[in-house]
Amino acid sequence: MSRAIASTKSPDAPPKLTEALEYAVFPGGARIRPTILTTVALACGDDAPEMTDRAAAALELIHCGSLVHDDLPCFDDADLRRGKASVHRAFSEPLSVLTGDSLIVLAFDVLSRQTPAHSERALELIRILSRQTGPPYGICAGQGWESEEKINLSSYHRSKTGALFVAATQMGAVAAGQDAEPWYELGARIGEAFQVADDLRDVMLDQDELGKPVGQDDLHARPNAVAEFGVSGAMQRLKDILGGAIASIPSCPGEAQLARMVTLQAQKITPNIKKTSRV
Ligand code: IPE
Ligand code: IPE
Ligand code: MG
Ligand code: MG
Repeated sequence: MSRAIASTKSPDAPPKLTEALEYAVFPGGARIRPTILTTVALACGDDAPEMTDRAAAALELIHCGSLVHDDLPCFDDADLRRGKASVHRAFSEPLSVLTGDSLIVLAFDVLSRQTPAHSERALELIRILSRQTGPPYGICAGQGWESEEKINLSSYHRSKTGALFVAATQMGAVAAGQDAEPWYELGARIGEAFQVADDLRDVMLDQDELGKPVGQDDLHARPNAVAEFGVSGAMQRLKDILGGAIASIPSCPGEAQLARMVTLQAQKITPNIKKTSRV
């Protein structure tokens, strides 16, 4: 990530945009997508660690760019992100649009800088990341659902949140020279669990704990797991999906380590029902 951001600096570049790019990426959030990607690559033998690093950085750059756009007044109009002013608040709306655009382009630039020995893997990584970012199933589609009168909840969640988790597991496998296809289900299930956990955090935590505005789903009248199943129903659903995620791990040398990582990440994202004061 540091190398990618360093590559955007130049005496000829517009200073505010350059500053906004760094501001949008550092300090990071949970970095959960690159953590999953790297753990899958390690579980598959990780024979090209430089490629794994590039894949992980590219994926997180897309995620950071999507958050910059998501906070814009024309989407969620959020003033706070990762405990500090959102990019459009700290800089401006035009710079926020350009920062999101630049991070998306930078992600593909990072992936394209591969040694010729691994050019086939690089192309496959670019293909997966494009598919999970753009239409018809990627985050663009996910955000697009919010402009529809009738939202298909499962397509909305699968593309808004699930897409980058599918990218995480598939890109981890491909970076290590394995097929992407068997890794789809694990990514999709982790993504589904993550979305339920995010919906729970939105109603259970406060703004200081979350570092971003809370109560957003209600505010924007977005369909969500808590509205559909209630808090305890959503908690149960989270557990069920995670159980299915672990069961779906394809057989590979690091299977047990991967199951531990999924369990650990699940503990991190699950809000503590006993501690909350909001529900
Ligand atoms: C927030 O993602 C956006 C959703 C898809 C729900 P994260 O919770 O992973 O955000 P950071 O990167 O940790 O801030
Ligand atoms: C953001 O979704 C997901 C993107 C595709 C950018 P949300 O709007 O639900 O996430 P937060 O709560 O702002 O992080
Ligand atoms: Mg949003
Ligand atoms: Mg938002």
